[in-house]
Amino acid sequence: FLANSCNNIKNIYFDLQRNDLKSIPGFVERFANDLKLKFPFLNILNAANILAKLRTIKDSLEIEKISKAISITNEGIKSILKNLKPGMFEYQAESYFDQSIKYNGATNFAFRTIAASGNNATCLHYSDNNCIMKDGDLVLFDLGAAYENYHADISRTFPINGKFTDRQKQLYNIVLDGQKHAMSHSKPGVTTREINAELIKYYQKALKEIGLITEDSEVSKYYYHGVSHHLGLDTHDMCEQVALVPGCVISCEPGLYIAEENIGIRIEDDLLITEDGCINLSKDIIRTVEEIERFMSK
Ligand code: GLY
Ligand code: MN
Ligand code: MN
Repeated sequence: FLANSCNNIKNIYFDLQRNDLKSIPGFVERFANDLKLKFPFLNILNAANILAKLRTIKDSLEIEKISKAISITNEGIKSILKNLKPGMFEYQAESYFDQSIKYNGATNFAFRTIAASGNNATCLHYSDNNCIMKDGDLVLFDLGAAYENYHADISRTFPINGKFTDRQKQLYNIVLDGQKHAMSHSKPGVTTREINAELIKYYQKALKEIGLITEDSEVSKYYYHGVSHHLGLDTHDMCEQVALVPGCVISCEPGLYIAEENIGIRIEDDLLITEDGCINLSKDIIRTVEEIERFMSK
């Protein structure tokens, strides 16, 4: 806009907390200062809080777009599963996802895909994806398509050879039950921190029962991230730091990472908070041990 067309404009708002702007050191400050010099009669205001409020609750069109991103992601996961076998590089498995989501109309990736086999899955931000996947190991995929700027964020963990060992199955089902437990607490009035606290309580009991830990505090050795974040225009979306309300979309992503056994498991789904609980928007994506083994045996 031009200075001489600003007669009626007093305030100008910028989202000074945008992730892409924050990643360029000093950009936001320089931009605001330049603007102030050129247009001293304008108040430069931060829109971050206003936008966070707007972005915390999704309308039906936004939910449609997130759902479309999830269904494209689902096709990509099935394409990986159809082709997964021991001896492939992690990036080769990843490439089936890339091809499929592009084919199915994704407008972008939500974030850099994690394809982490064996011990690599115990490193939360592994994305080198350049190791050979070994017979007998698990592989953890954390991936998502973006559709018209809205993101999906899904994790699934598969046995590379198509069959879980008894131990892998035992641990996988602990994470899956943990996810059900976390989902049952994902409802209006609850904070994401409280959902995580519930999950930790569940792990304290479940991991003692199988003899993996003896003290409650040892859970943090095997589970070391939060269970939920808001999701939308960003994979980690802006939000008001308040309890959940209907219309929030959050991830539900319990994990277990046991480096001494070369096992990392995460199961991540995307939930829409409703009046009295939540709907799992990604419920159609293959999830249980039985579903996975059946699909992989075809
Ligand atoms: N893919 C990033 C996350 O799960 O938060
Ligand atoms: Mn994820
Ligand atoms: Mn996530």
